[in-house]
Amino acid sequence: METLNMISSRKAIREYSGQMTAEQLNKILIAANAGPVGMGNYDDYRLTVIQNSKVLAKLNNIYDAPTVIVISAKNPSRMEYISSGAIAHNIELAAEDQGVGANYNMACISSIPDGVVPEFFKPLFAVTLGQTNEKFVDRKISLGRIKTNTVK
Ligand SMILES: Cc1cc2nc3c(=O)[nH]c(=O)nc-3n(C[C@H](O)[C@H](O)[C@H](O)COP(=O)(O)O)c2cc1C
Repeated sequence: METLNMISSRKAIREYSGQMTAEQLNKILIAANAGPVGMGNYDDYRLTVIQNSKVLAKLNNIYDAPTVIVISAKNPSRMEYISSGAIAHNIELAAEDQGVGANYNMACISSIPDGVVPEFFKPLFAVTLGQTNEKFVDRKISLGRIKTNTVK
């Protein structure tokens, strides 16, 4: 998909019709790894792919998503939170590119059971994912959706 069209077509998907394929997941994880992180300290981050139904059942507000990817970081400060957003956005776009539904999720973070993310890492952000019947079409987002001032 052409990049700007893809950005305009991205939307929060909260209804999932099934599990994505291993190949789709692999491409999504490559995109996550391509995300920018502050200072380039990639070892301060971890990705956790949750597809275990018993663990998924414990997560709040994930809309029955068959996959949740959690981004966690060591001793997080503002930089790690911002970086996790950039990683999550790459995950979203890679999902959309393959017709897979995805949505950012903060609501599940506090319900992630102990032992799911690696020791000493704190979950910061998550993305819910799955096949979707929804179509991605250009949403013609208005320029004023985020009010902007220009300083010249
Ligand atoms: C930091 C952040 C946290 C979010 N947390 C949640 C969440 O917990 N649950 C949810 O359903 N959507 C969540 N969203 C998705 C937003 O609600 C959604 O992106 C926004 O309403 C705009 O809709 P759109 O993505 O379809 O353009 C989150 C988005 C961001 C950027």
